[in-house]
Amino acid sequence: SIVRRSSTAGASYVSRRGFASGSAPERKVAVLGAAGGIGQPLSLLMKLNPLVSSLSLYDIAGTPGVAADVSHINTRSEVAGFAGEEQLGQALEGADVVIIPAGVPRKPGMTRDDLFNINAGIVKSLCTAIAKYCPNALVNMISNPVNSTVPIAAEVFKKAGTYDEKKLFGVTMLDVVRAKTFYAGKAKVNVAGAQVNLPVVGGHAGITILPLFSQATPKANLSDEEIVALTKRTQDGGTEVVEAKAGKGSATLSMAYAGAIFADACLKGLNGVPDVVECAFVQSNVTELPFFASKVRLGKNGVEEVLGLGPLNDYEKQGLEALKPELLSSIEKGIKFAKEN
Ligand code: NAD
Ligand code: LMR
Repeated sequence: SIVRRSSTAGASYVSRRGFASGSAPERKVAVLGAAGGIGQPLSLLMKLNPLVSSLSLYDIAGTPGVAADVSHINTRSEVAGFAGEEQLGQALEGADVVIIPAGVPRKPGMTRDDLFNINAGIVKSLCTAIAKYCPNALVNMISNPVNSTVPIAAEVFKKAGTYDEKKLFGVTMLDVVRAKTFYAGKAKVNVAGAQVNLPVVGGHAGITILPLFSQATPKANLSDEEIVALTKRTQDGGTEVVEAKAGKGSATLSMAYAGAIFADACLKGLNGVPDVVECAFVQSNVTELPFFASKVRLGKNGVEEVLGLGPLNDYEKQGLEALKPELLSSIEKGIKFAKEN
C-alpha cells in the first residue's frame, strides 16, 4: 500500500494526542471503488472533510494514482491507496465508515435491477471483508440496485454474526438532493444550504423513490400538476443523467456530493453531534417492509432512531402503496441471492 501523509497544513491541524484542533476525534473512512466515476470525486470530497483523519482508498486497480493525487491536498487526513483483493483487509482495518460505490453503472435502456447480476457478487465479497476486518464500521451502500444490495449486505453480516441494523445504510441522499433542487426551481426559492428541506422515502429506483413534497419547506403554492411533474422528475433523475451521458455511465459528480454529505452526517453522529437527521434506506418498522428509506436520526452507534413518514396527502399515500410490491420484491431478491450464494 502507499501511505502518503498530507502536507504541513494537515499535520498542524492534528495535535500530538491525535485530536484535531476543534477536538474532532480520529476517524478512518474507507472508500471501496475509489478509482471509479463516483469514487474519485467522492475521495476528493472526503479529503476536504475535517472530520476525517485517515482516508483509505480501495479499488481493484488504479487507486495508487488516485491516492497519490488526493494526498497532495493540504487538509487533515492521511491518505492511503490499496489495490487488489490482497490489500482489502488493510484498507478496511480500523475503519469507522465504509462507503461503497463499487460496481457497474447503468447504460441507456437499463434499469438498476439490470445491474444486479454483476453488482450483487461485488457487494457480497466486499461485505464479507467488512465483516472480517471492520465489523463495527458504518456501511454506506451506494452500489446499485440499492433496494437489493442493502439486503444482501445485511444477510452477509448476519451469516458472519456481525449484523447490527444500526450500522447499515443504503445511500438515498441523491434523491433528496435532486428533489430539493427541482423543488427550489419550481417554487422559486433559494436552493442552497438548509433553505429547502423535504424527505424522500421508500427506496432508490423508479417509483420506489417517493418524495414528500407536501412536507417541503419553505412552503410553496404549487399545483397538483406541478407536484406530479416534480415527483416524476425526482423518480427519473438517475435516468435523466444516464440518457444525457449516452453510454458513458450514470450520475457521478452529484452522487459524490450526496455521498459526501451522507458520510459527513454519519461522522457527525459518531462524534456525538446532536440532531443529525438525514434520509437513508435502513432496516425499518415504519412500514411492513423489512427495509425502507425514511428520515433517520444518526448517533454514536449509527441509527439512533428511524423516524416515521409524517403526514402524507392522498397522492403520496397512493405512491406509497404503489411502490411496496416492487420494493419488497427487490428486497427479497437480494436476500435470496445472499442466502443461496
Ligand atoms: P464506475 O464504473 O465509474 O466505477 C466503479 C468502480 O468500482 C470502478 O473503479 C471499478 O474498478 C470498481 N470495482 C469493481 N469491482 C470492484 C470490487 N470488487 N472491489 C472494489 N472496487 C470494484 O461506476 P460509478 O459511476 O462510480 O458507479 C458505481 C455504482 O454506483 C454503480 O452501481 C451505480 O449504479 C451506483 N450509483 C448509485 C447511486 C445512488 O444514488 N445510490 C448514484 C449513482 C450511481
Ligand atoms: C442515480 O440515481 O443516479 C443512480 O442510482 C444511478 C442510476 O443508475 O440512475
